[in-house]
Amino acid sequence: MRHLMSPLDFSVKELDDLFNLANDIEKNPKKYAHACEGLKMATCFYEPSTRTRLSFEAAMLNLGGSVLGFSDANSSSAAKGESVSDTIRVISCYADICAMRHPKEGAPMVAASKSRIPVINAGDGGHQHPTQTLTDLLTIRSMKGRLGDFTIGLCGDLKFGRTVHSLINALMRYEGIHFVFISPEELKIPDYITEKLKEAGITYEEVISLEDVMPKLDLLYMTRVQRERFFNEEDYVRLKDFYILTPDKMEKAKTDMLVLHPLPRVNEISVEIDDDPRAAYFKQAQYGVYVRMALILTLLDIQVTE
Ligand code: NCD
Repeated sequence: MRHLMSPLDFSVKELDDLFNLANDIEKNPKKYAHACEGLKMATCFYEPSTRTRLSFEAAMLNLGGSVLGFSDANSSSAAKGESVSDTIRVISCYADICAMRHPKEGAPMVAASKSRIPVINAGDGGHQHPTQTLTDLLTIRSMKGRLGDFTIGLCGDLKFGRTVHSLINALMRYEGIHFVFISPEELKIPDYITEKLKEAGITYEEVISLEDVMPKLDLLYMTRVQRERFFNEEDYVRLKDFYILTPDKMEKAKTDMLVLHPLPRVNEISVEIDDDPRAAYFKQAQYGVYVRMALILTLLDIQVTE
């Protein structure tokens, strides 16, 4: 039985197969409409989410399956003190696959070790968010035709942003990636990540000004300042509007640069950018459904032939 805890759980070849499947689902949705008939997905969300939970649910429903679950730790037995290990043992009796989001780093991993059904990490604290990474990679691959030979800027909250940590991990396996980390001093990328890059001989730079680096980027990954992971509100208020992507900044960018964002957006991308053909963040949300459909089929080992 297979779980998904980190994007590295799949080899580069397996990811290629997954993305090819996602692209086929995009082209032929009807072919997959009954693939999960009679099967159930549990979405166990101990932390707020709209798109991740709903995109999992939409994915399972698109495959003809059903969904059950909770979207708030207070409405689950966690409020009574139940451990995730016990919860997953019980959920294993009710569902065929489970997507779990938890504020504690490593909680989905603990669940997976006790589970009788595949568990998908749908975000654990500030640690990893593998299905967002699959979404990001599928978007880049589908819109750019390749995964490699890019200068990618990651901008905003690089300290607490789990989507950033996951994406860097995954991109490290492709050739020709140069990272540009754009953040205020207080929200710098953690040392354990830059150490890994150094060890792997991957080039990166750390800068504060978004404007200065704009012309060299092929991809710009914007992120929200992660209010819920701050220790005090004062620091959040001071840093929340540090970066705002505006049309004048976009003028400095390449004509085919893509702007990505895991969403939700707060202020970091001006709504004026939404109609710019380089704005890819709403398409990204659509790719998130296709890639989750492909993932569910893969983890449940379901092959659709016609
Ligand atoms: C991200 C997350 O939950 O980490 N959102 C998402 O899954 N689409 C990013 C965020 O909350 O800023």
